[in-house]
Amino acid sequence: MKLSTVLVNAALIAGSVAELDPIVIKGSKFFYKSNGTEFFMRGIAYQQDVAQGGGSISGDKKYKDPLADVALCKRDVPLLQELRTNTIRVYAIDPEADHTECMKMLDDAGIYVIADLSEPATSIIRSDPKWNDDLYERYTSVVDELAKYTNTIGFFAGNEVSNNKTNTDASAFVKAAVRDTKAYIKSKNYREMGVGYATNDDAEIRDEMTNYFNCGSREETIDFWGYNIYSWCGNSNFKESGYEKVVKDFSTFSVPVFFGEYGCNDVQPRKFTEVGTIYGKQMTHVLSGGIVYMYFQEENDYGLVEVKGGKLKKLDDFDYLKKEMAKVDPTGVKMDDYKPSNTELAACPTNTKVWQASETLPPTPNKELCSCMVKSLSCVASSSITDKRLGDLFGTVCGLGDNVCAGISADASKGVYGAYSMCNPKEQLSFALNTYYLQQEKKGNGAQACDFDGAAKTQTPTEVEGNCKSLMDEAGTDGTGQVTTGPEGSSDDSSESSSAAYPSTIPSFNFGLIQLGAYLVCGVFAGAGMILL
Ligand SMILES: *[C@@H]1O[C@H](CO)[C@@H](O)[C@H](O)[C@H]1NC(C)=O
Ligand SMILES: *[C@@H]1O[C@H](CO)[C@@H](O)[C@H](O)[C@H]1NC(C)=O
Repeated sequence: MKLSTVLVNAALIAGSVAELDPIVIKGSKFFYKSNGTEFFMRGIAYQQDVAQGGGSISGDKKYKDPLADVALCKRDVPLLQELRTNTIRVYAIDPEADHTECMKMLDDAGIYVIADLSEPATSIIRSDPKWNDDLYERYTSVVDELAKYTNTIGFFAGNEVSNNKTNTDASAFVKAAVRDTKAYIKSKNYREMGVGYATNDDAEIRDEMTNYFNCGSREETIDFWGYNIYSWCGNSNFKESGYEKVVKDFSTFSVPVFFGEYGCNDVQPRKFTEVGTIYGKQMTHVLSGGIVYMYFQEENDYGLVEVKGGKLKKLDDFDYLKKEMAKVDPTGVKMDDYKPSNTELAACPTNTKVWQASETLPPTPNKELCSCMVKSLSCVASSSITDKRLGDLFGTVCGLGDNVCAGISADASKGVYGAYSMCNPKEQLSFALNTYYLQQEKKGNGAQACDFDGAAKTQTPTEVEGNCKSLMDEAGTDGTGQVTTGPEGSSDDSSESSSAAYPSTIPSFNFGLIQLGAYLVCGVFAGAGMILL
């Protein structure tokens, strides 16, 4: 194709893409950028569970991208409009799929998108949390893909990861993801897109969690807070539902707050009597609307529509929601008149009885550093090693010597992280194998120390120089130093889940099988007497 044709085509595509006025954040509110009218989210969670089928799943992906199926968008966008939806929340985007048509249809319908950055197989897992190269690559590639569209409001770096006081350390990894995703958006000069977190509602850790994500420095705090709340059931009211407490708790919060998911189904059909309150005077000075969970009827019974044998049927809940949404008309403040008063960040939580995540966050993933490190080793994991064997070996190797694993371990409760704790598992194992090997070599036992029944093999190390050298010098020989130089990809253009007043049924998007898989892996680690965070 001639360059001029390419340019014309690019212009045509650019012209046909997203025209909606971007949403911007000032203080604790959202606004339409051009006219400064306050924006209240009338949202719907739009994500089909893989198990429910209803469309093709591309390649080896274990999830269905809701914005890549043009026929479904054609069918569903008018229905979303009927509900006066102005925002959809999607939970798993395939960064390699084409979203042009669906995003255009949504745009034409006045609908914005807020997207979770993870997908079922690549997410921060509460029982075995990590923030590593694989996750970084996944998160930034979703950002790259959706940054093309002005109707993207922003992203969730995690959904209901820490869900009770036994797993609060996982929040340190999510907060690191917030920090690094924000930095990435900035380094790419993308327009303003916020990075937030969608929290569950556990009374015991609620306050600490909220403060944690809003404390420290602005580079690492959330841009908005999605509160998944299922406490208004049936004919509840402002006080009984706990909504009154929400308003009180967040009245001094410095970033926008909205319901990341709502719509208790304990009483059926759902009449959505909370809608009038959410968009009424009692709440709109603090809350920026919310997202109804969810569009599709699935096993967890939260649907507005049911799709069976390719036929779509509106459920009673659809009509009830439609009736309530038709009545709301929140008026906020004008952006120019608004002088944010909640300018202070929160104080980081200090109650270690319920909150363990340190203010000190895990290091930024850095592929270059990890590959430099692996090349510099004399003993590495063999290329054919299985995931199972890899998991077992961590347990074995880390127990074999002093600090063999210091450079790859992460302890979020102490805030102590090895410089290589953000590398992928195989790279990490290689680092540990090599550390052990070198220790043994010093004692004259080198010959047998790099084998592990064929799981490890020696290699000729590459001499470390240039940028590799500066990065690895920061990391230190044992990997316990701090690397302050950022990842390469962040500055260039390469594109390579309650209690007390609240009910306990809090659904989150169902990633059941994958979570189970993670438990099994974790079990292997634990079984070997070593838990690597
Ligand atoms: C501002 O723009 C939005 C979106 O284009 C529109 O819905 C809203 O009515 C506008 N506000 C005013 C006061 O015109
Ligand atoms: C905490 O959450 C995990 C994961 O959902 C669950 O397995 C565990 O039983 C919970 N523990 C407590 C004390 O609630």
